[in-house]
Order: sequence, then structure tokens, then C-alpha cells
Amino acid sequence: MKVLGLETSCDETGLAIFDSSQRHNTNQGLIGQVLYSQIELHATYGGVVPELASRDHIRKLIPLLNQLLNECQLQKTDIDAVAFTKGPGLVGALMTGALFGRSLAFALDIPAVGVHHMEGHLLAVLLGQDAPKFPFVGLLVSGGHTLLVAVKGVGQYQILGESIDDAVGECFDKTAKMLGLAYPGGPNIAKLAETGNPHAFDLPRPMLGKGLDFSFSGMKTAVHNLIKDNPTDIDNPNHAQTRADIAAGFQFAVVDTLAKKCVKALQHTGFSRLVIAGGVSANLELRQILAKQLAKIGATVHYAPPALCTDNGAMIAFAGWWRLRAGQCDDLAVSCLPRWSMSDLAKVD
Ligand code: KG4
Ligand code: ZN
Repeated sequence: MKVLGLETSCDETGLAIFDSSQRHNTNQGLIGQVLYSQIELHATYGGVVPELASRDHIRKLIPLLNQLLNECQLQKTDIDAVAFTKGPGLVGALMTGALFGRSLAFALDIPAVGVHHMEGHLLAVLLGQDAPKFPFVGLLVSGGHTLLVAVKGVGQYQILGESIDDAVGECFDKTAKMLGLAYPGGPNIAKLAETGNPHAFDLPRPMLGKGLDFSFSGMKTAVHNLIKDNPTDIDNPNHAQTRADIAAGFQFAVVDTLAKKCVKALQHTGFSRLVIAGGVSANLELRQILAKQLAKIGATVHYAPPALCTDNGAMIAFAGWWRLRAGQCDDLAVSCLPRWSMSDLAKVD
């Protein structure tokens, strides 16, 4: 089955084709993907402007589909099903993909399925060479979500903990903005942190002792206070080390908090595998510290290939295929769910 995946939940227009008959190949069945990032469009605003995002998805969907079909040497009529991101995300952005995907499927007389964006992130790990077996604990860390989930199979998700305020990615982005770095902040903070001392400043680890929920707004305030009390002018070379130290201290505090909660979640479930997914899972410091901490309790950490950590169409095509092969699909009505809990998803046998 060839599934066209469409991702438009935020600021990335991602399209890909997953062919289940080629799952045994080294590409794991992913026969082509194209991605257009709107980063430049939003850069001047320091964050995603929802209306601009929707308009740009509309502009890019058809040219990107044509480019993808060309690269795969396929016709539209070769596609067997369409999977689109149904939620969670920005309502206008989601609607562009839902309308486009549902209409295309209707015109081609093939099924369409709406995919949960975070399930897409989570299952992307199965597209890599390092695919873990079920069950595992999932740490989902993106611009909009911070979740710890017990995963017993596809669609069998129990939320163990989540952020009560800012998402981790959002916290990276806001800290980057305070340091005068461009959006998205995660990769820029990580780069600046390379030359910093993570122990120069002591940042809080909020809610460490309290169950499996997270809170990151206190960390953001702590960074704000550090910046107020220390000179961090981006144009002054004398301030470069302080900036790097703040970035490193912040990154270390976030990663340390996440790692400790992951160890707790593994001990709580008795599972021995952890999957990290979503944009922040691209963070190398997070991967390294998790590998070290988990080795101490005999557990392993798994993540998707780098290109599949941040938003993309491949994860949507792949998650859609799991649901389509179980006979699940959407009806003809076009709908999206900007707020949608993973625990409400149907089980896939
Ligand atoms: O999953 P994603 O691409 O989009 C959403 O669904 O939100 O995640 C984007 C988030 C952004 O907040 C970005 O700053 C963060 O992932 N991110 C990173 C890194 N790469 C992306 N955060 C920390 N370190 C990175 N290397
Ligand atoms: Zn995402």
C-alpha cells in the first residue's frame, strides 16, 4: 500500500510516500519525502504567526505534491491512501492539510485517515534502524508538547505525565529569544551551549520530586533573571562567554530534569526501553545524558533518524498506514482536532 502523508500542523509543509511493500528495504518503505520549512517567513516575528502559516501551506501543497510524485516517478493514481495530520496543532494550518488530503482522496476514490501528530512523532522511531520492541515509555518533546507515555502497542497509550505549563521546545524557543537568538531556538541554544560551562549558573529543576508531571515556566523566569543580572549583549564579544554559560546551564537543567523523570517513568512501569520523539529529541545532550542515566538501570534509549525527529510528512504517512491496515479511516466530512489527547486514540491490533 502506498500512503501519501501530509504534515501541516505548524510551520512545516511535509509530504512523503510510504510504501508498505518496501518495508524490508533499507529505506524501511519510505520511498520519498519533501519538506518546506516556513522558518524564514516567521523569523522576523520570533515565533509562528498562525495566519501566515496557513496561507503558506496552501501555496506550497500542490507544488510539493508534484515535486514528490516526480521524484518517486509516480502518478497521483498510484497512491492507495492519504494520511493527513488531523491534530493537535494550529487550527488554520491543520485545516489546509485536512481539506487538501480529504479532497484529494475523494477525487481519487481512495481512503483518507486523520493522524495524531504526536503519534506520528512517536512511531517515527520504527522507521529507523534502531526500532525498539513494545512496550516502551515514550518521552514526547516538541514545540507544543511535553508528555511521558506508557506505550504497549500502536494506539495503546497511557499518559504518565505532562507539562503543566510551557512545553520543552517552547521553553528552548523563549530562552533563545531572550538571548537574541533566532527561531527555532532549540538548535541555536544547543550550538551556543557547546562553548559554555553548564555549571557556571545554577538553574532550578522544577517539580523534580513531584510525580511525572513537568513545569518549565519557572526555568524560563530563572533565565530571565540571569539575563537581567548579567551582561549578555549579542554584539559585545566580552559577553560571549556569559551567553554561552547561560545557554549551557539552561540546556543542562532541562535535560537533567527530563532524564530524571524518564528514569522514574521506567521504574514506575517496569519497562526497559525509552523512545524519545519530537523536535527536542534531536538534542544531542539529551541523547547522551539519557544513554548514560539509563545504562545505570539497564534500560536503553531509542530515537528516530535525525531528519524524522522534527516535523515531516513521513511520520504521518507511516502512522496513517498503521491505522489504514487495521481498517481505520475518516469519513467524508473534513475535520481537524486542534486539541486532541493521545489517550483518546483507538487501539490498533
Ligand atoms: O516536533 P517539532 O518539529 O514541531 C512541533 O510539533 O512543535 O518541534 C519543534 C521544537 C522547537 O521548539 C525547536 O526549538 C525544538 O523542537 N528543537 C530542539 C532541537 N531541534 C529542534 N530543541 C533542542 N535541541 C535541538 N537540537
Ligand atoms: Zn511536531
